[in-house]
Amino acid sequence: MKNLQKVFYFAGLLILASFALLPSCVKEGTQGPAGVNGINGVNGTDGLNGQDANSSCLVCHTIANFDNKIAQYHFSKHYTGTSSSRFTKFCARCHTSEGFKQIMGSGQYVVANDMPEANRINCTTCHKHTGFDFSGDTVSQILASISPVFLNYNKNQIATDFGSINNLCVNCHQIRGATSLTYFDVAQNKSVAFTQLPYFPFYNTDDNASVKYQVGRSFSVHDGNQSNLFAGINGYEYAGKTYTRIWKHSANACTDCHMNTFNPADSTGGHSLKVNKAECTACHGSDKLTSIQSLISGKVVALAELLVARKVFKKTTNTQGVVSYSAVPTHDFFGVLFPTAQDTIKYAIALAAANTVDPKTGLVIYTNNVTIGVDPDYSKRIGREWKYGELGAAYNYGYINSELSKGVHNPPYALQILQNSIDWLNANP
Ligand code: HEC
Ligand code: HEC
Ligand code: HEC
Ligand code: HEC
Ligand code: HEC
Ligand code: HEC
Repeated sequence: MKNLQKVFYFAGLLILASFALLPSCVKEGTQGPAGVNGINGVNGTDGLNGQDANSSCLVCHTIANFDNKIAQYHFSKHYTGTSSSRFTKFCARCHTSEGFKQIMGSGQYVVANDMPEANRINCTTCHKHTGFDFSGDTVSQILASISPVFLNYNKNQIATDFGSINNLCVNCHQIRGATSLTYFDVAQNKSVAFTQLPYFPFYNTDDNASVKYQVGRSFSVHDGNQSNLFAGINGYEYAGKTYTRIWKHSANACTDCHMNTFNPADSTGGHSLKVNKAECTACHGSDKLTSIQSLISGKVVALAELLVARKVFKKTTNTQGVVSYSAVPTHDFFGVLFPTAQDTIKYAIALAAANTVDPKTGLVIYTNNVTIGVDPDYSKRIGREWKYGELGAAYNYGYINSELSKGVHNPPYALQILQNSIDWLNANP
């Protein structure tokens, strides 16, 4: 916010505060409000509900406090990231301020349309006054939402309570869900509805049941699954195994770690949302993270290698020498089994976004095109349907690997879903 704007904003605020709290003290001229600033209550008797402006509003509303918050926010990825470029229908609810507000107001799963004018996440995304009676839990009265969150991957069927402040963050920091509505069927020359979601294998009870993993389907959790892991849910859980969901920091809020005391030396803590790690050593003595992160990373790689060995994954090394793993579909887009030897048959081998922009409205028209061709990857295929246990293991790999902090949001649960995947693969060759 520009300084000048801020001064006007604040002046306006005080006037508004005067109206809200002390209507009898405000003189209204013909030129509009020429109100004096709110008069501090005597023994708290002049304000709304017995409060006065100083004690109830200026706790937060000082220029210095807001300046600090703005400066800290400028270090956060909500400000520095590329979020605001993702204004399209399937992304705007988490990646833009206006998209988030629309979803909060409507209870819908995606925003009504693309929002090319939308802004990045800012103060007004997270903040809204839900009350002016500041006693008790004041923080919950200034947050846009603290209600239980409808989870995305199943299109808002389940509301889960992650705890008041956490619910604000979890609206966006959760498994993503569908990203398209239609695909273009070349053979039939028409657009067809696209189902992408059945591939989140959470609820299966038979690890040996079969499942096709078709081209175009996705079980990727997107990078935002910190909350799901934090709660110890939504990993693939093998039959007969028990899982520990609660860990040492389960009772903490996201903000206990991500908005702890601001440290000007390295710009962490506060509204930077970066973890001020100096505050962890009070209990941990020294770095607790590196050892647990390398233990978990080791398991992630061990699991990926097992999946490569049975041709469920393939391993790629790029020109910089960076190794990555990706799942190999068993069936083409139309459900035809891929062979394991070269042939001349044409398969529906890929699905590529083919969005266009409506010349009249300027809005995106979503579709995907199916690519038909001979299979270049036959030597890497398994040649049969997957077992659920394999899909679960592949999903668990992605679940922890896409958590960029490598499992710190619940080390016991992360290690269990990885180890149980490894054990199941070894026991079911
Ligand atoms: C616990 C901290 C806190 C307290 C106490 C507080 N506010 Fe706010 N207020 C905020 C935050 C945070 C914002 C959002 C800032 C933004 O969007 O830039 C805000 C925004 C506002 C706005 C802008 C309009 C809106 O609703 O978004 C007004 C007006 C306002 N507050 C008035 C008051 C008054 C009057 C009081 C005292 C009765 C008060 N505030 C007490 C934190 C607080
Ligand atoms: C409106 C959706 C939304 C809300 C609400 C939200 N976030 Fe985010 N957050 C995002 C997105 C999107 C990004 C990635 C931004 C980018 O890279 O462009 C992000 C980035 C982050 C990052 C940086 C991640 C990194 O890779 O360095 C942290 C930490 C974070 N958020 C924590 C929180 C916390 C804690 C809360 C609650 C107080 C919260 N967020 C609320 C959407 C949201
Ligand atoms: C359910 C909320 C949600 C939806 C919907 C969503 N994202 Fe994200 N996205 C996030 C969060 C949260 C992060 C930050 C994760 C982190 O940094 O750990 C993120 C990160 C990203 C990043 C990496 C950002 C960076 O700066 O490194 C990209 C790229 C991205 N999203 C693209 C998309 C696209 C494209 C769509 C729409 C098809 C989309 N996202 C939809 C929540 C969402
Ligand atoms: C990602 C969500 C998010 C964004 C963006 C955000 N805040 Fe906050 N803010 C919070 C949360 C959560 C709290 C409560 C933290 C706590 O536990 O004390 C908070 C607390 C506050 C408070 C009251 C506590 C205090 O120390 O005075 C003020 C004032 C405030 N924010 C102002 C701002 C301003 C100004 C901006 C924009 C520059 C902003 N916030 C952006 C989430 C956010
Ligand atoms: C016990 C402390 C703690 C709590 C509680 C916590 N985090 Fe984190 N989080 C961390 C640490 C540590 C990192 C890694 C940061 C680093 O390496 O700089 C991290 C990283 C992140 C990142 C960026 C990288 C990634 O893993 O994708 C996001 C986004 C994030 N946390 C969101 C959240 C959300 C949302 C919550 C609440 C559901 C939460 N965190 C709760 C400690 C915590
Ligand atoms: C009030 C004391 C306290 C504070 C402060 C604290 N922790 Fe912890 N934390 C513990 C205890 C106790 C354990 C469990 C015993 C252990 O592993 O040392 C633990 C365990 C952990 C673990 C799991 C380690 C493992 O090996 O399984 C992580 C990760 C963690 N803390 C992260 C953090 C981060 C990040 C911070 C700072 C934002 C932090 N903690 C601050 C007390 C604390």
